[in-house]
Amino acid sequence: MSQRPSIPGYDYGSANLPTSPVSLEDFELLKKSVLFSDEDVRYLRISYDVLKDQVEDILDVWYGFVGDNPHLLYYFTDKGTGEPIESYLNAVRKRFGQWILDTASANYDQQWLNYQYEIGLRHHRSKKNQTDNVSSVDHIPFRYLVALFYPITYTLKPFLAKKGHSAEDVDKMHQAWMKSVLLQLIIWSYPYVKEGDF
Ligand code: HEM
Repeated sequence: MSQRPSIPGYDYGSANLPTSPVSLEDFELLKKSVLFSDEDVRYLRISYDVLKDQVEDILDVWYGFVGDNPHLLYYFTDKGTGEPIESYLNAVRKRFGQWILDTASANYDQQWLNYQYEIGLRHHRSKKNQTDNVSSVDHIPFRYLVALFYPITYTLKPFLAKKGHSAEDVDKMHQAWMKSVLLQLIIWSYPYVKEGDF
């Protein structure tokens, strides 16, 4: 759990971020609701050492999936020309890599919560494109945000199995990852849900 390197736009910990409308108390109840326990925290942290030197390979798989699906790649394209914006893809990829490590670090403090809220805003029309100052498509539909839960967590499992852990430990790491990604997606959904309904 080394110190976070400086990555353009990766604002975890920044004092300028808005406070998450989902409070730490709300988050505790969400954790209970998805059966997320201290054991999951422990297995996420074990996954840190497993994944830390595989981040680029994981990103190759995830970006490969988006790249192979024009309806998803669309959200990285220029609104005017329809062409993928390479600099945007690359900048987001760097933050995505750090997100893998921060998810494995499993540090659920107020700053983490604030950054989760921010990531949701960045997928939503509230803040998409602003961090990288691009003129891409304005908004990622909610349905795709949720849909990607499956490919992202399913394709992670072989990477969790690459460092010689028992099948049981690999499964526990994988379960912990699924719960963590689900929890994050719930927080990211905040701007998508009609006021008062979250
Ligand atoms: C399980 C679902 C998803 C996960 C875990 C995920 C993860 C991430 C992460 C970690 C970032 C970087 C956040 C930051 O700025 O630090 C990001 C940004 C982004 N993601 Fe996703 N994402 C998901 C769904 C999607 C979907 C369905 C699309 C549509 C193709 C998408 C397109 C983007 C784009 C375009 C950005 C850059 C947003 C901006 O302009 O700041 N993501 N995503």
